Amino acid sequence: MVTRERRAGARWVYYMDRIRIIGGNPLNGVIPISGAKNAALPLMIASLLTSDTLTLENVPHLADVEQLVRILGNHGVDIAVNGRRERQTDGYSRTIHFTCRTIADTTAPYDLVSKMRASFWVIGPLLAREGKARVSLPGGCAIGTRPVDLFIEGLQALGATMEIDGGYINATAPKGGLIGTRYTFPKVSVGASHVMMMAASLARGTTVIGNAAREPEVVDLANCLNAMGAKITGAGTQTITIEGVTSLSGARHRVLPDRIETGTYAMAVAMAGGDVVLEGTRADLLETALETIRRSGAEITDTADGIRVVRNGGGIKPVDIVTDPFPGFPTDLQAQFMALMTKSSGVSHITETIFENRFMHVQELARLGAKISLSGQTAKIEGVQRLRGAPVMATDLRASVSLVIAGLAAEGETMVSRVYHLDRGFERLEEKLTRCGAIVERVSD
Ligand code: EPZ
Repeated sequence: MVTRERRAGARWVYYMDRIRIIGGNPLNGVIPISGAKNAALPLMIASLLTSDTLTLENVPHLADVEQLVRILGNHGVDIAVNGRRERQTDGYSRTIHFTCRTIADTTAPYDLVSKMRASFWVIGPLLAREGKARVSLPGGCAIGTRPVDLFIEGLQALGATMEIDGGYINATAPKGGLIGTRYTFPKVSVGASHVMMMAASLARGTTVIGNAAREPEVVDLANCLNAMGAKITGAGTQTITIEGVTSLSGARHRVLPDRIETGTYAMAVAMAGGDVVLEGTRADLLETALETIRRSGAEITDTADGIRVVRNGGGIKPVDIVTDPFPGFPTDLQAQFMALMTKSSGVSHITETIFENRFMHVQELARLGAKISLSGQTAKIEGVQRLRGAPVMATDLRASVSLVIAGLAAEGETMVSRVYHLDRGFERLEEKLTRCGAIVERVSD
């Protein structure tokens, strides 16, 4: 059966779409890197903090972005693409204007939050601007339980009352607004760091966040908030200081390049062989991952506007990795690196430390002939000489793309189902790969 759901705008997405790959071709050419999904989402949410227009350039055209557009619309954000009022264009990354004159609704309902976890982050701006928010708890997801205790503790430290009622968090700011504080996270969280920065920007007094996430997306949000009039220093280090201001204004900000998309295509080249320039990206966003790919045998060099990845002839060497918060090896590239290691010339180990259930790709890679065994949070990968194409599916975004990478280096046909996972985070994946010589097509039954 074919099920379908309407995307914002005119295009229909067939949820039973599949990606068909005929493996064996090297990749040669240029791949443009899109704006980062994980930067665009918090930046879009920051538009709730001001009644002026926040203009974001280089917003990727992805299902998650469209979903957040719907969620923000519910809160009263008016959205225009490239100055026009429709939300859909056929181009790559777009410029979008977000204007929230008044907050229309301080409730983020379950049916919206459960579809995309990051929408829980609206709790920060709603609480800071309106003094209250009722936001559904997001629940677990395929990669782990993903609790929200750090958000609750952080916002409580800013003086908010946080009550859980019927699957929702009711957050209320003290009379007069949130109050600056010193708070150190017991564990590094990207989302909780975003939310604390947004909430503290409109708090009274100064907030100092300890053990903050250092991810480039946190720095991007801080830069955008500062352009809106916030006073944030230290983003990109473990200590972020936010001097509260009474209001924020509009701004124009360009979303930074997607380091996970960059790493994914770099690993695709390292796996399939070839010579590809990844255009519009920055090596400093993913040094640890690039160094790891180099150790596996690919050459990576800087170009004027990106990086060049080459692997011609030589084999793939085994490399051990442990995922870690930035600047460590990103969990969002773990599945893709495992795909690469399935064809290495020896034994490698991959340890996942961020999410407790992020190994769903293991069984699917095994269907292509990979030899992987799991022991707790560590996977042992014994490289094989050949992978063979097969029908596969995955239950999250990065796991799905790891199967595409493996399919590029497998003999024969690999059919990846549940393509909607890929559409959440990879803009025009099949087009970008096809232009470099891969045989990849979307199949709609
Ligand atoms: C962000 O998720 C990314 N999502 C994830 O990317 C990424 O995997 C993750 O950071 C880690 O880098 C977006 O940016 C939209 P966390 P986030 O809070 O913020 C635990 C992808 O594929 N934790 O940094 O939700 C949590 O369970 C996605 O694009 C608590 O214990 O991740 C995890 O073990 C998937 N309590 C760890 O912290 C909390 O209150 C790090 O999670 C919050 C988090």
